[in-house]
Amino acid sequence: MAQAKLFSPFKLGDIEIGNRVIMAPLTRNRARRGDDAPYEIHATYYGQRATAGAIITEATQISPQGKGYDDTPGIYSQTQIDGWKKVTDAVHGKGGKIILQLWHVGRISHPDLQPDGADPVAPSAIAANAQTFVNGGFVDTPTPRALSAEDIANVVEDYRTAAENAQAAGFDGVEVHAANGYLIDQFLRDGANMRGDAYGGSVENRVRFLKEVLDAVTGVWGAGRVGVRLSPFNGFNDISDSDPEATFAHVVDVLNGYGLAYLHMVEGQLATPQSDDERTSVAKLRARFEGAYLANNSYDRETAINTVDAGDADAVAFGRPYIANPDLKERLELSAPLNEPDPATFYGGTEKGYTDYPFLDRSQAA
Ligand code: PHB
Repeated sequence: MAQAKLFSPFKLGDIEIGNRVIMAPLTRNRARRGDDAPYEIHATYYGQRATAGAIITEATQISPQGKGYDDTPGIYSQTQIDGWKKVTDAVHGKGGKIILQLWHVGRISHPDLQPDGADPVAPSAIAANAQTFVNGGFVDTPTPRALSAEDIANVVEDYRTAAENAQAAGFDGVEVHAANGYLIDQFLRDGANMRGDAYGGSVENRVRFLKEVLDAVTGVWGAGRVGVRLSPFNGFNDISDSDPEATFAHVVDVLNGYGLAYLHMVEGQLATPQSDDERTSVAKLRARFEGAYLANNSYDRETAINTVDAGDADAVAFGRPYIANPDLKERLELSAPLNEPDPATFYGGTEKGYTDYPFLDRSQAA
């Protein structure tokens, strides 16, 4: 049988990848207390996973205001840039590629995480019925403060600076996180965006913030090294839209105007296999997008191989399997058994459950 396309090279825009097994962004809450910088253990963790076609890092806040959970990393200070440089060096030293995910959580935060104890910000002053993780425990997210037009311009500048910092840190590209109910998704969807100005109302207005972010970020990197992550049918973080098919059809049309590296799609509800309706709706959006398509959500070896061979995705991003299998690409290629991830060590802590999952013992491989 011919080799599965999943294990063959590809180009995500200008980013050449050796195979189409991608490490999905995974929040692990292990940044250094005090400065939210990645350090040596992050270099070890990501370096262990360097045989992925590309790694997309954990969501990384573009500014102190963009933070929504304990111990997530940033990309706005020199210390953070220096920490990420250790990570990119480790991955590049093993021949891998690594893309930084740029994140602003918007209303999914808490004053205890915000500069000067301020309220989190959002397109509109509407609380999410959601929780975040602060001071070691879960808390409800409060009613946010609506951003002014001037505030929005400042956030766009934060994205630009973060994109520049990602270059200084040696990444191969950046992914704009526009999914999962965080700030950009809050602008896109009418359940969270009730603005009466140029950023709210019609879908053309609701997508304006994403466009301004993409103009800034592609201005730094060139569109061929910028991807976007969307989750049109995901209700995580209490996000909703009255007509997601129409909203995201328009979003995809806008993305087509940029010539981006890829579109990364959370194809259903987060960490849940797709329903039949979601499958049909996602297929329409995928067909509408003109660039490389990166599929994500509960794929396994068989569904990933079949989806890429059928031409229904150019690459597949794996999340939870990458927590427990640093050599996931080799294991999939050899059809070797997978280590099971331990949910108790997903979020927070140090090496345990982070850098200590075993590699395949090749002497035992069939
Ligand atoms: C999380 O920290 O729970 C989280 C972060 C980013 C996502 C999804 C979940 O896109």
